[in-house]
Amino acid sequence: MLIQEAVNLDIRVAVLDPSPDAPCSKIAHEFICGDFMDFQTVIEFGKKVDVLTIEIEHVNVDALDELVSLGKKVYPEPSFLRMVQDKGLQKEFFEKNHIATASFFLVQTREDLLKLNSPTPFIQKLRRGGYDGKGVLAIRSAESLQKESFDAPSVIEEMINFEKEIAVIIARNVSGEVKTFPLVEMEFNAEANLVEFLFSPANVSDVIEKEAIRLAHLIVEKTKFIGLLAVEMFVTKNGEVLVNEMAPRPHNSGHHTIEACPTSQYAQHLRAILNLPLGDTALLLPSVMINLLGEKGFSGPVVYSGLAEALATPGVFIHLYGKSDTRPFRKMGHVTITDINPSLAHSKARQIARLIKVVS
Ligand SMILES: Nc1ncnc2c1ncn2[C@@H]1O[C@H](COP(=O)(O)OP(=O)(O)OP(=O)(O)O)[C@@H](O)[C@H]1O
Ligand SMILES: [Mg+2]
Repeated sequence: MLIQEAVNLDIRVAVLDPSPDAPCSKIAHEFICGDFMDFQTVIEFGKKVDVLTIEIEHVNVDALDELVSLGKKVYPEPSFLRMVQDKGLQKEFFEKNHIATASFFLVQTREDLLKLNSPTPFIQKLRRGGYDGKGVLAIRSAESLQKESFDAPSVIEEMINFEKEIAVIIARNVSGEVKTFPLVEMEFNAEANLVEFLFSPANVSDVIEKEAIRLAHLIVEKTKFIGLLAVEMFVTKNGEVLVNEMAPRPHNSGHHTIEACPTSQYAQHLRAILNLPLGDTALLLPSVMINLLGEKGFSGPVVYSGLAEALATPGVFIHLYGKSDTRPFRKMGHVTITDINPSLAHSKARQIARLIKVVS
């Protein structure tokens, strides 16, 4: 999706990805198959390009530092990536900068955690390597603490009884211009621990919207962030806004911007890192985004059912990622549904979610 936007501005994109049949391999100007955790591979790749960016934060940051010292432009900056790679450092950053977040402490091992005898329930998150809810546990009882908790450096967080989860996508370019996209609201699939529906505009009060946007601005201003940043937040039952975590790249909660905004999150990311003026982020139409997840019970070469009927519906935009195999709950694509009437957008989205099935 980033490449599709780059083509419009005649920007040539080279991609490094460990999978030989990565979806982008078919459309990148140059595709290098390699491990982005490997120092030398990243250095060699980085030497080829003028500006280097990431779409996953689990990359070799030492190599990025080295590329910066060789005079390469790397955005977001390696120091920011180092912070977000570690949920413990992220939480310490929030605390230090008075950015409201769930209270927490850090542990090294399960033994440490058991010694502290923390009252349940609480949330345990691996400091490193988690994504898509993997690496996050809700510990609800002493028994689950004994049997299920991670034995690894982790963040122990207060379990927030939230009203809803929202996200703000914010961009800051090299010159310091800043723009946010309208708020989005997430609805999770409890079983997969993945976002299932995403609504924009979010149904929150003006006060909450202002606070969410203030927090996102505070983060980019404090860090002089360059690029596109998704800030995930909780709205609590008593109307507080707490920052959950951040992702310094185009994000699942911004996919709808491709059709719903004059500038997509991908175009905005490119503008930010190439120091171009940031684009218009107005929401043109109410929208709902659904992730197309592999159906439970199906693994193997993917088959999509219901596509033709979905395509026949006005305001339905399908994006298949070109992954050859499906697995239960694997993200295989997404659909954006727009309608001038927000409640019609919602009902159409639920209908499309029932219609399209990712099977094998
Ligand atoms: N302190 C908390 N209290 C209650 N629920 C939480 C808390 N922290 C996380 N969660 C729930 O777990 C989900 C995943 O957590 P988080 O976003 O931190 O992890 P992640 O694996 O990086 O997720 P993803 O990659 O899907 O964004 C959250 O979206 C939220 O639903
Ligand atoms: Mg998250």
